[in-house]
Amino acid sequence: MTDRYAVIGNPIAHSKSPLIHAEFARQTNQDMTYEAILAPLEDFRKTVEGLKKAGYKGCNVTVPFKQEAWQLAGELTPRAQDAEAVNTLKFADSATLGDNTDGAGLVADITRNLKFEISGKRILLMGAGGAARGVIRPLLEAGPKEFVIANRTAARADMLAEKFRIVAKIYADLAGSQFDIVINATSSGLEDEMPPLPCGLFAKDSLAYDMMYGRKTPFMEFAEKEGASRISDGLGMLVEQAAESFLLWRGIRPQTASVIEKLRT
Ligand code: ATR
Repeated sequence: MTDRYAVIGNPIAHSKSPLIHAEFARQTNQDMTYEAILAPLEDFRKTVEGLKKAGYKGCNVTVPFKQEAWQLAGELTPRAQDAEAVNTLKFADSATLGDNTDGAGLVADITRNLKFEISGKRILLMGAGGAARGVIRPLLEAGPKEFVIANRTAARADMLAEKFRIVAKIYADLAGSQFDIVINATSSGLEDEMPPLPCGLFAKDSLAYDMMYGRKTPFMEFAEKEGASRISDGLGMLVEQAAESFLLWRGIRPQTASVIEKLRT
């Protein structure tokens, strides 16, 4: 019998996940379907229960339900516990396992696709919302020499700094510092804005990474002007987090390069 999967969100129409998972399934000869499901804002739990009853094997969860999914999961992987958010649910009998593959996806994109070493590097992570929280532990596990989190609202960065034992700053306090990897995990790009960064942040041979995809953000333009050597959007992260979900469900990690390439064109 064909196994069924889905991504749940609101809105969901523009999700690229069905296309990505269809490519993965074709490539690895998996007998499965994957569809996009719009859940009413107040009915996420009911939507998940409906999928379980209908025999689905799992689902991805996207905006704005990742925290609700974290609350709903009966069992959590350590990385989902850290992130306090779940983007992947796996249904087995009556149990629901919650995982978060976003951070692993980011690390895979930086190290495998961009071939940029994280170990021994100085990382600046901008933002202190759900997107930032989900990637801190996997980035730390990749062994950076230094890890600074910066946010507009100091209190939010301070909370994460305490939890993950890293350094928190506000943007103005970054003046005079240099980093090898600067990651934008804020939602500022959605409003065509960027955090108020001082000049001179990018070290020689540095990477500027924006977790948003689909257009060149003000942060990416700033990084270009400031001389960052590599500049990337988050499309690779999107495909890599999907590959990690696929691995959790199917036990196979699909090839990602051709899928990233396909989405770019
Ligand atoms: P998400 O789940 O996408 O992380 P969030 O929890 O609303 O969403 O967090 C949004 C993040 O983007 C926060 O770090 C926010 O900064 P504040 O905590 O100071 O609000 C950041 N952000 C949003 N718009 C921004 C802007 N124009 N400039 C700088 N930071 C911005």
